Amino acid sequence: MDLGLKDHVIVVTGGGAGIGEAISRACLAEQARVVVVGRLSENVKRFQAEMQAAHNRCEFIEAQLADPQQCRKAVEGVQQHYGRLDGLVNNAGANDGIGLASGDPERFTESLRQNLLHYYAMAHYALPLLKESQGAIVNISSKVALTGQGGTSGYAAAKGAQLALTREWAAELLPFGIRVNSVLPAEVMTPLYRRWIDKQDQPETTLKKITERIPLGHRMTEASEIAAMTVFLLSPTQSGHTTAQNIVVDGGYTHLDRSLT
Ligand SMILES: NC(=O)c1ccc[n+]([C@@H]2O[C@H](COP(=O)([O-])OP(=O)(O)OC[C@H]3O[C@@H](n4cnc5c(N)ncnc54)[C@H](O)[C@@H]3O)[C@@H](O)[C@H]2O)c1
Repeated sequence: MDLGLKDHVIVVTGGGAGIGEAISRACLAEQARVVVVGRLSENVKRFQAEMQAAHNRCEFIEAQLADPQQCRKAVEGVQQHYGRLDGLVNNAGANDGIGLASGDPERFTESLRQNLLHYYAMAHYALPLLKESQGAIVNISSKVALTGQGGTSGYAAAKGAQLALTREWAAELLPFGIRVNSVLPAEVMTPLYRRWIDKQDQPETTLKKITERIPLGHRMTEASEIAAMTVFLLSPTQSGHTTAQNIVVDGGYTHLDRSLT
């Protein structure tokens, strides 16, 4: 299936590790050009070195996304270098455990800065370019937006707002032919998830308990499976009439009856 993404320029925030890395790889496999925007952690540097060695069309812009000026500069960099932008994948974020009792208003606000405000900033600054290309936005949210988790008010608020903004932007951007959708993962093994599991008292037992509760196949979702949905939603040829959708890719974890697991 040709997704029609050849030579399209796609920005993936946090696109150098975990789910974002898988999305970058999926876009590159479709012969798109990818711009990764985010921190240059060790994982990201490894991916960057691999991309450079393979002469892949993948650029890296270091940015602390919590700073809106860095978001603006990143989009300006894309404009200067490519003169176009066809897709924006807002993906960077982390479940930071700022709870109602355990957090405080300042840390809650900081969590929104790390997890939510850059979704708006990136879309805002990218908008003129997306209007020119009639491009697409995909917001990576989380099942936490639908189920809650406990102890993570900032992250839950950010992830829920991303779903609301998906609908809001899909409505606002209809006249420009810009489609906006979101993908909700639940349990995907990534560097972030590994760090969280390793902090549990019995990491492997905890992981086994979680995977046993996932209805389809009793396994984690692969990052490549989130990426496949994302790249489909970016496709102007295959998902050209799909907008305002929040799609949960989680092996039935969020929606199926508990008695099935
Ligand atoms: N892994 C899961 O099971 C899971 C489940 C639900 C939702 N998600 C969502 O998927 C997305 C990706 O998660 P992941 O597990 O791949 O994470 P990850 O930490 O493995 O990768 C995310 C990348 O984004 C970067 N990043 C994060 N916040 C940033 C910021 N403020 N500025 C610059 N760079 C930043 C990180 O440094 C990292 O390179 C997040 O939005 C997360 O909430 C993940």
